[in-house]
Amino acid sequence: MPHPSTTLETPLLRFLKDTHADFSRIDEGEVASYIPELGKANPDHFGIAVATTDGHVYEAGDTQVPFTIQSVSKAMVFALALDLLGAERVEAAIGVEPSGEAFNSIRLRADNKPFNAMVNAGAIACSGLIAESTGGDAFELIRQALGRFAGRELGVDEAVFESERSTGDRNRAIAYLLRTYGGVTGDVDRLLDVYFRQCSVLVTARDLAVMGATFANHGVNPLTGATVASNYAVARTLAVMSSSGMYDFAGEWIYRVGVPAKSGVGGGILAALPSQLGLGTFSPRLDMHGNSVRGIRTCEAISEAFDLHML
Ligand code: DON
Repeated sequence: MPHPSTTLETPLLRFLKDTHADFSRIDEGEVASYIPELGKANPDHFGIAVATTDGHVYEAGDTQVPFTIQSVSKAMVFALALDLLGAERVEAAIGVEPSGEAFNSIRLRADNKPFNAMVNAGAIACSGLIAESTGGDAFELIRQALGRFAGRELGVDEAVFESERSTGDRNRAIAYLLRTYGGVTGDVDRLLDVYFRQCSVLVTARDLAVMGATFANHGVNPLTGATVASNYAVARTLAVMSSSGMYDFAGEWIYRVGVPAKSGVGGGILAALPSQLGLGTFSPRLDMHGNSVRGIRTCEAISEAFDLHML
């Protein structure tokens, strides 16, 4: 593929604007409502951003509108855990196999490990490992790490946090199940506060593009120049995103789009094409898997138009 920031600059921006205009008409999908506060999202918000590994950012639509990161956080937090605790410890606790199931599945592997860190069980175990090993304010550590990926300080939507905390019994059930097998230790409510807060961090489509570009740039944020994750953590996180980042749509996704990605029920999708670019989309209309309908269509279209499929 030619270098995006030089040869694709004008066509890319034009393509993003055209795609935004075309796909704004898609009205399939529903805003997530199982976390009541998320149900208040504006279904028409739609933003597309691309950030290149040499630090150019291209944007169309609502790229500066904040929304909660939700499961997209799982990618950066897995990378953080690998770097903070070491691969051996993290890999002993959390698998790297696709589950083929919904993100909130309570099923564990036959050896009682979570399938991977992209589904809720694995992500809760991952945040648990960070909480266990730091002893201090694990959420603050996670917030700062997410901010380093985005290249700016990130805040929290307290209303979404409270809303998920008061309705998140399924995640509570997953955490208690994990605790019976030693997958997490300590106080389950305290751990889930870390996880729910991590999911409630506010980002924009632009932030997701920059985070993706940081993965694509082998852990160096192309806007700040800061190294925010090791090569090992980046490569392994992208590998798990490829096989499991889009849940029970992951096979279809890697077949069609061919770029490692992670979605969240806030409506965000982050995709990262190694050595090239990060892609961030935001549209809260979700399909049955909890993935953004317009976001998937947008990533497919960009991948096809610019021949981004890795394989
Ligand atoms: O744990 C949950 O249910 C949410 N906080 C995050 C789920 C999520 O974003 C799934 N992604 N599509």
